[in-house]
Amino acid sequence: MTSALASQMELAQVVDGGLAHVEQAMRDATDSQVNVLRDASHHILNAGGKRVRPRLMLLTYLTLGGTDLDYIAKPAAAVELMHTASVVHDDINDHGILRRGRPSVNAIWGRTFALLTGDFLFTAVYELMASYGDLNVDLARAATALVEGETLQASAVKDKRFTREIYMEIIALKTAALFRAASAIGAKLAGADPSQVRALSDFGFNVGMAFQIVDDILDLVADEEKLGKTSGKDLMQGRGVAVAMNAGNGSGAADPMDAVKRKLLEGDTLEKAQRQAEFLVERAAETLAMLAPSPPRAALEELAWMVVKRER
Ligand code: IPE
Ligand code: IPE
Ligand code: MG
Ligand code: MG
Repeated sequence: MTSALASQMELAQVVDGGLAHVEQAMRDATDSQVNVLRDASHHILNAGGKRVRPRLMLLTYLTLGGTDLDYIAKPAAAVELMHTASVVHDDINDHGILRRGRPSVNAIWGRTFALLTGDFLFTAVYELMASYGDLNVDLARAATALVEGETLQASAVKDKRFTREIYMEIIALKTAALFRAASAIGAKLAGADPSQVRALSDFGFNVGMAFQIVDDILDLVADEEKLGKTSGKDLMQGRGVAVAMNAGNGSGAADPMDAVKRKLLEGDTLEKAQRQAEFLVERAAETLAMLAPSPPRAALEELAWMVVKRER
């Protein structure tokens, strides 16, 4: 075995170990005395998910020389719980009934308990971050951005004012800001200098932008079974779980973004969007070039490319 391969395998073990800590931290933070909050939280957490954001934080931390995987577990869990809260609420807003290959929280427990479960997941973030001082500011800004992005999106759809610029502003806020926070926190916890923190924050931001563009493409080209969530493609073609479950109640396609995404299918816009995502990842990869080569740096770059090559 080459030494490069050996150190890559070693890294994979370290990352898996770190992510196991993160899972435990998320489970502990959501262990409510109130059955429905605990059960619904554990339902969405046990359904899996790619765990891209905690992986991004962990790899950033390792790339910049961090070693204490115990210490980073709580902030990484906080980032993932904030994301999980946002998808629980997103499925209420978008009438999504399938999430991570399972019925969504709202599909099982109804809108009221889904709303409260999302709130509960958001509040668990406070507890996890309590002893992390200023890093709370990074996460709080991402939380604000997320809500602003979702709100801007709903307003843009309502007012039928959906330009490319507005789309980019929305995805920067609703998705890329949390990716940026994940990288920034990973870098700061590793004791990186300000220029490195800025570079890695940009890296996370660009990867997050690419991530949402690809998510919107997949929503149009992949079906529900593959995605594990309610898909715009299936809705448009009048099939899929969402259509079946909504049959007879007249609700049909419910995500207000569906009409906007449908426009993405016209002409060569989908190819252009994919190229834009690849361009963003190339920019992200360039930022990494300022750091010394290492197995975690290579893994970070691989994560960035996975974002544009993924099928779910
Ligand atoms: C879905 O995010 C919501 C977006 C911001 C696009 P993910 O694709 O990371 O969802 P999970 O966690 O893997 O289910
Ligand atoms: C992204 O929005 C979700 C959040 C940032 C809250 P989408 O509505 O596009 O996400 P999916 O496709 O349902 O996961
Ligand atoms: Mg949405
Ligand atoms: Mg949605």
